[in-house]
Amino acid sequence: MEKMVNSKRNILIFDRYDQICDFAIEKWEEISADAIRSNDFFAVALSGGKTPVGFYEKLSNCRKGFYWNKTHLFLVDEHFVPSHHEESNYRMIKHHLLDGLRIPMENVHSISTQEATPEKSSENYEKHLRYFFQLKAGEIPAFDLIVLGIGEDGHTASLFPRTPSLRESGPLVVAVSLNKVKNKRISITLPAINNAKNIIFLVSGYNKAQVMKEILEEKNMMLPATRVNPKKGRVFFLMDEKAASLLSSRYV
Ligand code: 6PG
Repeated sequence: MEKMVNSKRNILIFDRYDQICDFAIEKWEEISADAIRSNDFFAVALSGGKTPVGFYEKLSNCRKGFYWNKTHLFLVDEHFVPSHHEESNYRMIKHHLLDGLRIPMENVHSISTQEATPEKSSENYEKHLRYFFQLKAGEIPAFDLIVLGIGEDGHTASLFPRTPSLRESGPLVVAVSLNKVKNKRISITLPAINNAKNIIFLVSGYNKAQVMKEILEEKNMMLPATRVNPKKGRVFFLMDEKAASLLSSRYV
C-alpha cells in the first residue's frame, strides 16, 4: 500500500520493510542515472543507524544500472570513535555495503575521527566537502541524494531537538556533544540537507509511530526531522505500516 501526497513531499507507506528497500533502490537507480547524465557523477550521503542495514545489504548486490565508479558515497554523520569501533557509522556501512561493492576507495568520503576533537573533525569534513563540490565562500553543496533515518525523539542525522546544531544557516558540518547521547558526533547540518536534490527517509517499526505523527501531521518544528524541507529538492518518507500506524486515514 502506498500513497503519493505531492511530487515534492512524498509519503509512502509499505506493508513490509523489504518493500521500502526495493523502492529506495529503484529511486537510487533513477536518481543516480540522472545525476551521471547531467554531471558525470552521483553524490550521495548515507546515514548510520539500524534501519538502513537491510537496504545497504540489498544495494551491495546491485550491479547492472548502477555506476559505482561514478558514485561518490559520503557520510551524513559519524560517531567520534575510531573507524573500527562497533558504533562507527563508517564501519557499519563498510560491512553492509562497501565490502560487497566494487567501488574505488577514492569514491568513499568518510568522516575522519583521527583528529584530536570532534570540532576539528567537523572542520576537516567541511573543508573536504567544499573541495569536492568546488564551493566558493557561502556556497552550499547540492547532494543528489541524502538517505536519512529518524530517531524516536525526532532527531535526524546527528541533529537533536533543542540544540544549537539546528541553525538553518552557518556551517555545513557541526560537532555535536550532548549528555543524553553516548558518543560525540559529527553531522552535516540543515543548510546542507535542505540543499539536496533528493532526500529519502527510511523509517520502520512501531517505536517510530508517535514521532511520525508529530512530524507529518502535527508538523512539530521542534523536531529536527520536521525541519527537513529541501528548497528545491524532493523528499520521500518511506515507512512501513508499523511506523505509519498512528497516522490519520488521509495518509493510509
Ligand atoms: C546514527 C544515525 C541516526 C539514525 C537515527 C535513526 O548515526 O545513529 O545516522 O541519525 O539515522 O538514529 O536510527 P535507526 O534507523 O536505527 O532508528
